[in-house]
Amino acid sequence: MKKVKVAIIGAGIGQKHYIAYQQLPEMYDVAAICDVNRARAQAFVDDAHLSRITDDFDAVLADPEVELIDICLPPHLHFDFTARAMRAGKDVICEKPLANSVADVDRLIAISTETGRTVFPVFQYRFGKGISQLRALIDSGLAGRPFVASLETHWNRGADYYSVDWRGTWQGEQGGAVLGHAIHAHDLLTFIMGPVSSVFARVATRVNDIEVEDCAALAIALENGALATSSVTLGGSTDTSRLRFCFAGVTAESGSEPYRPAEGEWTFTARAPVTQDQVDAVLAKVDTPPAGQVGFAVEVFRAMRGLETAFVNIEEARRSIEFVSAVYESAKSELPVSLPMQENAPTYQGWWP
Ligand SMILES: NC(=O)c1ccc[n+]([C@@H]2O[C@H](COP(=O)([O-])OP(=O)(O)OC[C@H]3O[C@@H](n4cnc5c(N)ncnc54)[C@H](O)[C@@H]3O)[C@@H](O)[C@H]2O)c1
Repeated sequence: MKKVKVAIIGAGIGQKHYIAYQQLPEMYDVAAICDVNRARAQAFVDDAHLSRITDDFDAVLADPEVELIDICLPPHLHFDFTARAMRAGKDVICEKPLANSVADVDRLIAISTETGRTVFPVFQYRFGKGISQLRALIDSGLAGRPFVASLETHWNRGADYYSVDWRGTWQGEQGGAVLGHAIHAHDLLTFIMGPVSSVFARVATRVNDIEVEDCAALAIALENGALATSSVTLGGSTDTSRLRFCFAGVTAESGSEPYRPAEGEWTFTARAPVTQDQVDAVLAKVDTPPAGQVGFAVEVFRAMRGLETAFVNIEEARRSIEFVSAVYESAKSELPVSLPMQENAPTYQGWWP
């Protein structure tokens, strides 16, 4: 099957994407790496790709061979670059967050419909054995009714991290730990337990001297009646992500691996009348899938080549941005906010103070 020619735009996290493509040589050919700071891209590519480094995004868009644009730029550039790439006839991978308002995601959905191009928002935490096993328990019917979930995103970020100019500001980062860091845990919550119906949020800036929040405590109700809590800080002494899901038939708990929670050591404990043997029998049948960014890229390839796929679609990015909007609205009003969000909601056009 024909390889996908992809261009990576932005050589920070773009390096991790590059490494993932290198692991899938039968699927991808990295045709260009574009960064205004060419030296940054040069520092990590192999010799075969050195000649493909450019700082000219328009030239990348003009290359008819490039099918896929992979946007790894600072958040404030995501909307514009995604829109330009689709209008140039390219499918687009875009790093989180896809946009800084539900209104802008809706504009991207309209451009996607008009151009026939697909946007693949990056949510690579979904890919890995633990999450696949939990999904298998849900699909088998053994998990049963969802009761509660607790999510911890306790990472450590200090002055070094915020020395990059766009970080920590509304203008550049567009939001704080809720938007930039806990977005993955909240995506996993909806991936496992379904859509959110309301959220009550407290946010605070307590760890670093920045404009945006770096701590949050959220109380979440899901459409199916289950409840969840999410605790977020960038002042953890280590980087720890932990997820716990209590269903009628099983309690699932992740390890503490911060950036690849789907791959860490999960435990799945049966709850009567479901037995541990029944749970273990389902778990044993789950193969280890390609994980993280590699798993994400496999699904993008499959989608682009018309194969059956579990790719993450733009509606799921919309859901994540809608949730962030509701969090900021609730934190400001000190009231719970219901979803789905209406177009006349105070944060539909954006949440900046
Ligand atoms: N999915 C994840 O787990 C994950 C992890 C880290 C970062 N991210 C996201 O990835 C994005 C990038 O983050 P980062 O940490 O790599 O940032 P970064 O600042 O380290 O890298 C961004 C790069 O983009 C380049 N750049 C800026 N403007 C450009 C332009 N107009 N044209 C070409 N290149 C340009 C910069 O020179 C820089 O090298 C952010 O949205 C961030 O939230 C996602």
